Amino acid sequence: HNDRVIAPSLLAADFSKIREETSRAINAGADWLHMDVMDGHFVDNISFGPAVIQAVHETNDIFLDTHLMISRPDHYLDRFLAAGSDLITVHVEAEHDVAETLERIRKAGRLAGLALNPATPIEDIKPFLDQIDLLLCMTVVPGFGGQAFMPEVLPKIEAAAAWREKAGLGFHIEVDGGIDAKTASRCYDAGANVMVAGSSTFKAPDMAAAIRDIRSA
Ligand code: DX5
Ligand code: ZN
Repeated sequence: HNDRVIAPSLLAADFSKIREETSRAINAGADWLHMDVMDGHFVDNISFGPAVIQAVHETNDIFLDTHLMISRPDHYLDRFLAAGSDLITVHVEAEHDVAETLERIRKAGRLAGLALNPATPIEDIKPFLDQIDLLLCMTVVPGFGGQAFMPEVLPKIEAAAAWREKAGLGFHIEVDGGIDAKTASRCYDAGANVMVAGSSTFKAPDMAAAIRDIRSA
C-alpha cells in the first residue's frame, strides 16, 4: 500500500472514442483505469454499465478499477465481474449486505474495495477492514466529475491509515474527486496512495505530464 497508483477516470474521457481515450491514458502512464458506474438512483447521474467495461477490457490489459455508485451492487455484481473488472468498489451506504458483497468479490479472485461518501463517518467502515483490499474515501459528493476537492475528508484518511497500521493490514487508500497535483500532495500526506483523477488528466493539454505531476506531488 506504499506504491503510488494513478487511476485516470474514464468519466472525463471523450465517449465518442473510448478505445483511443483508453490508449491515450495507458500511453500517458496510467497505472489503473477508474470506471465510474452510476445508476441514476444512488447518485444523480447515469454513466455506463458492464458493456462499456467489457469493451475496454477486450482491447487492452490495463487494470480496471470499477467504482459502483449504484443502489444494489449485490444484484449487478456478477455482471461487473464477468465484464473484466480487476477491482470492484461498492459503497457502504448502498442497500446490500456489505460483508457478503465484499466476500463475493474476493471469492471471484478480484480485489474488493469499499467506498464512503464525504458525509459518512469513518466508523461505518470499521467492521469491514479485514475484508477489503482498498478503502475509497470520496473527496467530493459522488455523481459528477469536475467538482472541488473537500479537504474536510483528510482527517478520515488519517484515521483509516492509523487503523490500518494498528491492525497490521495492507489495504490501499484511494481518493476520488477534485484530485490534481496540489490536492494529491495533501492526500499522500494523510496516508492515501491511489489517486483517481478525471478532469485533471483527460482534460489536460499534456496527459503524461499531468500524470507525472500527480505521481510526484
Ligand atoms: C465522482 C466520480 C469520480 C469523478 C472524478 O462521482 O466518482 O471518479 O470522475 O472526477 P474529477 O477528477 O474530475 O473530480
Ligand atoms: Zn469514482
